[in-house]
Amino acid sequence: LHVAVLMGGLSAEREVSLTSGEQCAQALERQGVRVSRVDAGRDLANVLSGLIRPDVVLNCLHGAWGEDGCVQGVLETLRIPYTHSGVLASALAMDKDKSKAVLKAAGVKVPGGGLYDRHEVASRHVIAPPYVVKPNAEGSSVGVYLVREDDAPVAEVGDPAWAYGEQVMVEPYIAGKELAVAVIGEKSGPRALTVTDITPTKGFYDYEAKYAPGGSVHVLPAVLPPAVFEAALRQAEAAHVAMGCQGVSRSDFRYDDVKDDLVLLEVNTQPGMTPTSLAPEQAAHTGMSYEELVRWMVEDASC
Ligand code: DAL
Ligand code: MG
Repeated sequence: LHVAVLMGGLSAEREVSLTSGEQCAQALERQGVRVSRVDAGRDLANVLSGLIRPDVVLNCLHGAWGEDGCVQGVLETLRIPYTHSGVLASALAMDKDKSKAVLKAAGVKVPGGGLYDRHEVASRHVIAPPYVVKPNAEGSSVGVYLVREDDAPVAEVGDPAWAYGEQVMVEPYIAGKELAVAVIGEKSGPRALTVTDITPTKGFYDYEAKYAPGGSVHVLPAVLPPAVFEAALRQAEAAHVAMGCQGVSRSDFRYDDVKDDLVLLEVNTQPGMTPTSLAPEQAAHTGMSYEELVRWMVEDASC
């Protein structure tokens, strides 16, 4: 078995992907699998079909191009089996606004708010604070701002250097807990692993809190009312199905414990596989080692 691990890539999450990819590559090598590490650039099709010719691609790319259906389309064209979701689910999940419409139609509760022109968002409060401003199509909290009651609008989104699209997502801030549920797309149906409660050590769950060791505290299984815990598992599975995901996905939630309100923020089709990432930690909790998780992904690959 020869596996090409795609890592790096062209997005703002390049560094995260290099870490995810290296961890996965090492986990396969520990199991005696032949691995080629591929930093995915625009010449990806030539590299894979000419030089490397793998049996399977383990896609560890995050963000634009690698997670949004583009690379998946290249792999479909080359007829190389690949891990995680296909073209449609990947493209859909990368668009937060369109994902919300699909999830809502499937009965999953999503935040209010919507897309606004970035210059408008930079100049006035388009909805009442507190609210969250985020790119419609990025991951890892890149370009995410929390605007509290007394804060000014986010000037940065009006900056000429803003690189994350003319429309930005503005959503009411949901107080309470940040929760995450990884789902394994078994042949017999999706299986939610557990619920993790994430508390950033300072501020909110931003890029640093996600990837700096000690940046956040993960409690798993989360301490929640049993009905809420169960709802998070079932909603993550419903989201996996509604979005048409394959392989592993991870749904991120907010739970307002005062209003007893559980809201699904987004579905990630290429969840992080770094040492601080949530999906491998949940797998370990259910008795599936990092090696077993990566092996499962490779065996599940299709095109
Ligand atoms: N976008 C990051 C990698 C995640 O969802 O884990
Ligand atoms: Mg994300």
